[in-house]
Amino acid sequence: MSLSPIEEAQGRHIGTVEFVSPDEIKVSLDLDAPDNTAINAGNPRSFPRINNYLLIPGQEGFVVGQVEWLAVERSPFPKRKGLQDFGLVDLPFPQRKLSLNPVGMLIQLGAKSKISFIFKRGVYAFPTIGDPVLLPTDEQLHSIIESGENRRLLIGHSPLASNAEVKVDPDRLFGRHLAVLGNTGSGKSCTVAGLIRWSLEAAKSTANHEVNARFIILDPNGEYAKAFSDANIFKGDDKAHQLKVPLWFWNSVEWCAFTQASARAQLPLLKRALRSMRNEQFDISDNVEIAARRFVGIILQATMIAKNAGEPYKAFPHSKNFTERLSIWATSIGEYDAQITADLNPLFQALQNLVATHKITRVNFTDYPIYTVAEVDALLQNMRDTYALTGGSPSDLLPKSEDVPVKFSGKVFIDFLEALAQETGNEQYFEFLLARIRTMLADTRMGAVIGDDDDVTLEGWLNDYIGSFETTSKVTVIDLALIPSDIIHIVTAVIARMVFEALQRYRLLHPDGKTLPTVLVMEEAHTFIRRYKDDSEDQSSAASCCQVFERIAREGRKFGLGLVLSSQRPSELSQTVLSQCNSFLLHRISNDKDQEAVSKLLPDNLRGILRELPVLPTRHAFLLGWASELPILTHIRELPKSQQPQSDDPDFWAVWTGKDTTGNAVERKIDWKALAEDWQGKTTAPEAVFPGSTAEAKINPANSATTEDEIPF
Ligand SMILES: Nc1ncnc2c1ncn2[C@@H]1O[C@H](COP(=O)(O)OP(=O)(O)O)[C@@H](O)[C@H]1O
Ligand SMILES: [Mg+2]
Repeated sequence: MSLSPIEEAQGRHIGTVEFVSPDEIKVSLDLDAPDNTAINAGNPRSFPRINNYLLIPGQEGFVVGQVEWLAVERSPFPKRKGLQDFGLVDLPFPQRKLSLNPVGMLIQLGAKSKISFIFKRGVYAFPTIGDPVLLPTDEQLHSIIESGENRRLLIGHSPLASNAEVKVDPDRLFGRHLAVLGNTGSGKSCTVAGLIRWSLEAAKSTANHEVNARFIILDPNGEYAKAFSDANIFKGDDKAHQLKVPLWFWNSVEWCAFTQASARAQLPLLKRALRSMRNEQFDISDNVEIAARRFVGIILQATMIAKNAGEPYKAFPHSKNFTERLSIWATSIGEYDAQITADLNPLFQALQNLVATHKITRVNFTDYPIYTVAEVDALLQNMRDTYALTGGSPSDLLPKSEDVPVKFSGKVFIDFLEALAQETGNEQYFEFLLARIRTMLADTRMGAVIGDDDDVTLEGWLNDYIGSFETTSKVTVIDLALIPSDIIHIVTAVIARMVFEALQRYRLLHPDGKTLPTVLVMEEAHTFIRRYKDDSEDQSSAASCCQVFERIAREGRKFGLGLVLSSQRPSELSQTVLSQCNSFLLHRISNDKDQEAVSKLLPDNLRGILRELPVLPTRHAFLLGWASELPILTHIRELPKSQQPQSDDPDFWAVWTGKDTTGNAVERKIDWKALAEDWQGKTTAPEAVFPGSTAEAKINPANSATTEDEIPF
C-alpha cells in the first residue's frame, strides 16, 4: 500500500510544539507516539532518545531539532484525540515531554519524483506553538548527518542516525585547528592516529602520484612510533634516530627562558653574544676556507665604503692611501689563494695590476693618478664574484639578528660570554647563567639532543623533520619521552617554532605566495600549552613553549600550518590556543572543571551535549565546530591493534602472578645496585641495569651526570 505524502507525514507525527525560545523548543508527545522503537519512519529506530533528530515543518523547510531531555509531566488536561468527553472529571494524566535544541534547517530541493534535502546550520524561521513535530525519514536523517561539502574523510558512523557515515572535509578539519579532548582511555590517541592514517589513505585513493602530505607528531608518551612504523622517527636516546635540536637553533627568547636571564643585567649581554655568534665575529675553528671567505667579504665592504666616500677619486693623499691598502690586500689574497680550493688568482691579479699602475715612486705627490669609476667598479665586481666563489652570499654582508639560525659552537659561545661578562664587569651576575649552559652541554643526555658537535645543517634538519618532496614517509614522529625534563619545554618550543617559521618563509618565497599545508600534532597538550601567568616577570621555559603554540594557533592558518591538540585536561590549556581551535572531537569528560572549560567553547544551545560527555563510551565522540555542520555523536572507525598508539597500562596482575593472560611467563628482575650506579653516573649503559634488555627497557630519563639534584656519593 502506498501512502500519499500527507498520510506518510501523518504517520511520522509524534507531537506538538508547546514552547519556543531561540535556544529551546519544548514538545509534548502524542499519546500514541512510540515509546521505545519507532517503526513509522522506515527502518526501526530507537525513539524517543537523547540526541534524536526531529523535524518541525515550516514554510522555509524543516527546522531540525536535537533532543536534549525527555520527561513525563503530570498534566491535568489529558490531550485526547477525537471528541472530548464532556462531563468527565479529568484526573492528572502522565504526559511525555521532550526538549529540542534547534540546530539548523533542512531544505527540500527538487520536485515530486526527485526530492532531495540539504541541511544548513542556523535557524532563521522558528516554529510556533501548535506546530507538528515529525520523525525524519531515513533519507532526511542521512541528509542531516551527511551534510556539508567535500566530505572526503570518513571518520566514523553516527549510531543515532541509522549509522549514517560521518565524513568531513580535511581542509576544514585541519585548516583551523582541531582539539581532541577527553579523559585518559577515552580514545583520543587512537582518534588522532586514525585521523592521520585515514587522511593519508583517502588522499592516496584519489591522488595519481605520491601523496604530498606532512604530519609532525610531538609525542611526549612515546606511543606513536608503534602506530606509524613507516614514519620518520626521532627519539631522545636512540643513536640511529637521535632527536636533534641543536642549540644554535634557539632564538634569544628561548635562550633567555632557558638560562633565566634577568631582563636588565643579563639579557642585553646574552643578546650581544648571540649576535656575535650569528655574524661569525669570532673564530669557530682554524678553517682557512672560512677565514678566506670572511677576508674577501671584509675587503669588499671596505672598498664599497671607500668608493662611497670618494676616496679613489680624490687627489693625494686619498688615492695613494687607497692604493696602499690594495697592495696589502693583494699580499693576503695571494697567501690565501695558495691554501684554499677556490681560485683567488683573478682578484690577486686585478689588485696587483691596479697597484702597478697607481703606485708611483716619484716625489711629486700631485702625479699620483686617481682612479677611474670603471676601474673601481670592475674591482668591486671582481671582489663580488670572488666572494661568491668562496661560498659567501651577499646577505652574509648584512648584519644578522641574534635569532637567525646560523651555526655556532656551544663552547665558543660560553667562552665568548664569559669574556664579555669580564669585560663589562658583570661576572658575578653571570655565574649562574654560565653554569647552567655548561651543565647542559656537559650532560650526555642533553648534549645528545642539543649538541653542536655533529654535522646537522638547517637544510638537512628541515628535510628530515618536515619532510622533503621525495620522502615517502608523510609522518614524522618526534618521541619526547626520554628528553630530560630540564630541556623538554625548550626542545618542544624550538621544534614547533622552527616548523612554523619554515612554513612562514615558504610562503614568503613562493612566487605566488602559496602555502605548504602541514599538520602539527601536540599530544598531552596541557603540559606544553599550559596556561601561564601573564604578569610574572620571569620568562619560564614552559611559558615560552606555550607562547609558541599561541602564535601558531593565531597565525598558523595563514601559512598552512594546522594544529591538532590532544588533551585530557582542557581546563589547564591556554585559553588563547583553545579558543582558536575551530573544530572539536569531544570524548568522555567526567571532571567538572574540564567540562566547564569545554562549555565555554560551546554555543549556548549546545550545552546539552555537555551533560552527555561524562557517560560517553570509549571510541565515541562528539564532532562539532567548523568541520561539521551540526554536532554529531560519532562512533569512531575501528583502528586495528597494529595501528593503535601504544598505551599499555602497568601489568600488575601479570607481574604478580608471573604469567600473562595467554599463559606466557612474565618476569621482572630487580637489580637496584646497577640502577643506583647508573643513576650516580658510575655507569651509563642501560644494558648494565637490564642485562639483555630490549629497546623497551628504559632507565630513568631524568638521569644525568651533572644536574644539581644529583645524589651525592
Ligand atoms: N578507534 C578505535 N579503534 C579501536 N580501538 C580503540 C579506538 N579508540 C580507542 N580504542 C581502545 O581504547 C583504548 C584507549 O584508547 P587511547 O586512544 O589510548 O585513549 P587515550 O589516548 O584517550 O588515553 C585503546 O587501547 C583501544 O583499545
Ligand atoms: Mg593517549
